[in-house]
Amino acid sequence: MKRSLILLCGLCLQTFSSFSQTCSKTGEYNFKPFRTPVCLEVADKRADSILSLMTLDEKIEMIGGHNSFFTKGYEKYNIPAFYFSDATQGVHIRKNLDNSTEKSTAFPCPLALTATWNPALAGNYAKSIGEECRANNVAVLLGPGLNIYRVSQNGRNFEFFGEDPFLVARMVENYVVGMQSTGTITTLKHFLCNNTDFHRRRTNSVVDERAIHEIYLPGFKAGVDAGALSVMTSYNQVNGQWAGQSDYVINQLLKKELGFKGFVMTDWWSVYDPEKTIKSGQDLEMPGGGNPGDPQFQEMGDTYLLTNAARLVKEGKVTEAEINAMVKNIMRGFIAMGLYDRPVQDKSYLSKYPEHEKVALQTAREGIVLLRNEKNILPLSDKAKKNILVVGKYVENIARGLGSAEVLGYDNITMIDALRAEFGPKVVYAKTPTDEQIKAASFVVVSVGTSDSEGWDRPFELPAESNALVENVAKQNSNMVVVVNTGGGVKMTDWNNKVPAIIYAWYGGQNGYTALAEVLSGKTNPSGKLPISIEKKFEDSPGADYIPAGMSLYTGWQGDYIAPKIPVFDINYKEGIFVGYRWYESKKIEPLYPFGFGLSYTTFEYSNLHVSSPEINKTEGVTVEFDLKNTGKKGGAEVAQLYVQELNSSVERPVKELKSFAKIELQPGETKKVTLHLKSNDFSYWDVKSHGWVVETGNYNLLLGSASNNIKQSGKVTIK
Ligand code: BGC
Repeated sequence: MKRSLILLCGLCLQTFSSFSQTCSKTGEYNFKPFRTPVCLEVADKRADSILSLMTLDEKIEMIGGHNSFFTKGYEKYNIPAFYFSDATQGVHIRKNLDNSTEKSTAFPCPLALTATWNPALAGNYAKSIGEECRANNVAVLLGPGLNIYRVSQNGRNFEFFGEDPFLVARMVENYVVGMQSTGTITTLKHFLCNNTDFHRRRTNSVVDERAIHEIYLPGFKAGVDAGALSVMTSYNQVNGQWAGQSDYVINQLLKKELGFKGFVMTDWWSVYDPEKTIKSGQDLEMPGGGNPGDPQFQEMGDTYLLTNAARLVKEGKVTEAEINAMVKNIMRGFIAMGLYDRPVQDKSYLSKYPEHEKVALQTAREGIVLLRNEKNILPLSDKAKKNILVVGKYVENIARGLGSAEVLGYDNITMIDALRAEFGPKVVYAKTPTDEQIKAASFVVVSVGTSDSEGWDRPFELPAESNALVENVAKQNSNMVVVVNTGGGVKMTDWNNKVPAIIYAWYGGQNGYTALAEVLSGKTNPSGKLPISIEKKFEDSPGADYIPAGMSLYTGWQGDYIAPKIPVFDINYKEGIFVGYRWYESKKIEPLYPFGFGLSYTTFEYSNLHVSSPEINKTEGVTVEFDLKNTGKKGGAEVAQLYVQELNSSVERPVKELKSFAKIELQPGETKKVTLHLKSNDFSYWDVKSHGWVVETGNYNLLLGSASNNIKQSGKVTIK
């Protein structure tokens, strides 16, 4: 038995070098899923043999967390205790924990990463974070978070990948492979339909089957297919059941339908019925115990698996076999990743921090979105550079998202420092600028933004003083730009037409302001495109009525603590599949800035679109070829977006859906031939009658453009 196991292991043993990403000349991306160093079948057998030695009590200790962020270890079985750490945009340092990290790079937030539309960069971004996990003894990263951007007010949007399931999927699959290629387990979270943080423990997301499949699952499916070994369930209920103890959510959707083979964990304190939890397919309850000082835990009572599972087995309500299955899933993931055979920590990765800083900077450069640039006021002319004035919110302090995803970084560069490094020491910061100062400046940079956080949602409107500052500067000096640092859409409607330039800079991480300075000076030509639609007013957006009458936004964690006193309330996803641009287009509501939009300092021309075949059958795909030329005077990158539009469908469908894209770099005057591929399932929709994907016969338009509202060329295909 032992010998055959070793043989088998030898056969399926792989190295982490399976992280191989290549970009073809035209920017197309070749993706390969992650393969565990020890194959799952072998890991399964090894888990079985360890399990056979353990007592029931020992096994139960493994289905709950310990010391807030650890799993249970047993020296006698050679099972280490593993440390889990947040989150998607870098390693969150917890100084109070034993093996806490010393230092970690603060990367631009995942929404900024998505604005790069560069999946290969998502891979490198995650690989860098994975290496910092290895340097700091983190076995499991509690990210990526990939909840769909449904409402701009969600305090956690910055942690996620935007509104479009296809774009989320392409970024996430690369994230997973990049992260796991370092030997760090990645966690897809929060499963499922956790699209607001407004009293997040008391919400019931009421979602139809089609929206679940077309909008909310694809990112998770891509992560599972890419080989993610861990999934975290969410705080909310999905159609009346807490996600973390829902058979439908875990057993049916995640395990059966998506075929997930790793382990599932709960979000921190989010399940209430131990029997249901065990039967739902859940594997690990985190953090495993309560903090008796917190009122919420007193109200929840003692429902932990660690303290209830043995009783439930004794009473015959759950079986030991069910406990075994949970423990086995957990062990299988760790064994498959090689974590029972090597130390988690590898300090040699500390030497790679300088490389990580470069990846962070490159992400910030490519993620910045230029929204407005009247009369090409940007990049700054020599005259404009002479005496720059900087005013507003995030000049001397770094804008960042807060909560478990917060990463403080090191060697942080503030906006004022970055601008001085780029334009010289004469750049002036004025906390309360006088009219004279504003008028006298050769150029004014106005910083506005929000401080988004886990635990609560924030208003779509910017603070009144920020709006007033923008209007005041715009009135007095027409040489100005508004820089927005935020984790989602904010209201710019009132001053949008009064200002000549707007840069959306998200949360840019520890060196994001260097990228901003480069964009202002023209060293970097902006190429980011919005991964979200930004509405004119919040009421225009699909989930605008998600806060029940009589309730209102709050800030601070008390919203979480008082939560048990608030009855569970429904959030009706009545827009169904019409989320993001699917909503605005079908309702003919014009957003202020549409999905996929972003300006450049150069211009691009699309021509010669050619579809490989005018007719295909239901199982075939097509390729779309076109020429892209840089017709301007500056080198730059364009994100070409291909949308599919079904004509005469038998069911309601979005006006169009993103199904392919490529980011292409071109020198001035240069032309490249670009090929995009569409697979048969890129034409499909989720059919609620057959509970499956359906490709309809009929005619489809293939719409190629530089933004969802700017189609440059189109082709046709008929499915017979
Ligand atoms: C968050 C998770 C996070 C966990 C552990 C929860 O409050 O929702 O995203 O991973 O805490 O920090």
